[in-house]
Amino acid sequence: MTTLQLPGLIDAHVHLREPGYTYKEDFYSGTAAALAGGVTTVLDMPNTQPPTATPDALAAKAALAAAKAVCDVGLFVGAVNTMPIQHVTDGYLPVAQQACGLKIYVSETFGSLRIEELGPMHALFRTWAEKAAETGYRTPENPSGIGPIAVHAEDMMLAVCLNLSHLYDVPLHIVHVSRRSEIELIRRAKERGLPVTCEATPHHLFLSTEDVSHLGTRGDMRPKLATPDDVAALWENLHVLDIFATDHAPHTLTEKQSDAPPPGVPGVETMLPLLLTAVDEGKLTLEQVIERCVTAPRRIYGLPQQADTTVQVDIEKPYTLADAAQLCKPGWTPFAGRRVVGRVERVTLRGRLVYEAGKVLAEPGSGQVLFQQKIGANRG
Ligand code: NCD
Ligand code: ZN
Repeated sequence: MTTLQLPGLIDAHVHLREPGYTYKEDFYSGTAAALAGGVTTVLDMPNTQPPTATPDALAAKAALAAAKAVCDVGLFVGAVNTMPIQHVTDGYLPVAQQACGLKIYVSETFGSLRIEELGPMHALFRTWAEKAAETGYRTPENPSGIGPIAVHAEDMMLAVCLNLSHLYDVPLHIVHVSRRSEIELIRRAKERGLPVTCEATPHHLFLSTEDVSHLGTRGDMRPKLATPDDVAALWENLHVLDIFATDHAPHTLTEKQSDAPPPGVPGVETMLPLLLTAVDEGKLTLEQVIERCVTAPRRIYGLPQQADTTVQVDIEKPYTLADAAQLCKPGWTPFAGRRVVGRVERVTLRGRLVYEAGKVLAEPGSGQVLFQQKIGANRG
């Protein structure tokens, strides 16, 4: 067997659904699936129930993750549109340093976190910049700084967010870029020196509108799958894409087959084989994968190093991705049927064997919840 050894991957965009939707996923099942995908750190999104938008909600979520996670977890706080703006800003600002970043939804999404007016958007950027003036942004040298603002901003909203980031000098991370116009605008912003980074998902890199007819609602997510020309634009602008992240958004098959199917697809288990298959096909280099799945997310979010952490992958035997092999709760993948190379055989986290040959060996709670020191200090 030809074995490749990689560092543990970071998936900077996952929805682990706890609290509120644990029938879809929870901190154990989602992080177990992450290990099966060679991922040893995940950054969890705030669109849970309740949303991660207050100090209490963040502390409660951190406690759940600490008890159940088998890989390391960072938690986003989210801006909510249901409270007066004073609440919004007072709500998450006191715990900004315990979050990996602030997530703002400005385009259509699952859940109720969407912000649609300039008033709250402006206040969010202004107050984040004010907080950063106190704490600085998080880097390895400044671990108690705050992270970037991450936005789900499609189409015209992208231009709004780039402008707010520019006006307040707030580092902006654009999640799941999917359209030619978007990646080209981000390229322009970077050329102009704006503090902007971005990510693309495997489904926007490896699927397109041409797949919608055979995938049905299994191919429905936000942003929706894009045209082959949009997909080509992402590949042409690989140098503009800082991160590959999955937007692992588990929903049950029953929900996906219902009259009102929620958008989103699982992904944390299939990213590495899809990327290694692209390496095999000469579309990417291994160095580009490691830069986008380890180095860049660590730099952008200021994540700590994981000592003695490795992923061993069999890159010899091709195999077919299948629903039945998925460890995530919904047990399906939009990539079922695809031939890939790159099967995760073994994962070691901080010197301990945590995953081997399809089995998770780590104890629930052995994963670390990042950036929580201050919460402990406040309580103590
Ligand atoms: C996500 C979800 O289900 O939480 N769905 C999706 O289609 N991407 C929400 C999101 O990331 O917008
Ligand atoms: Zn998402």
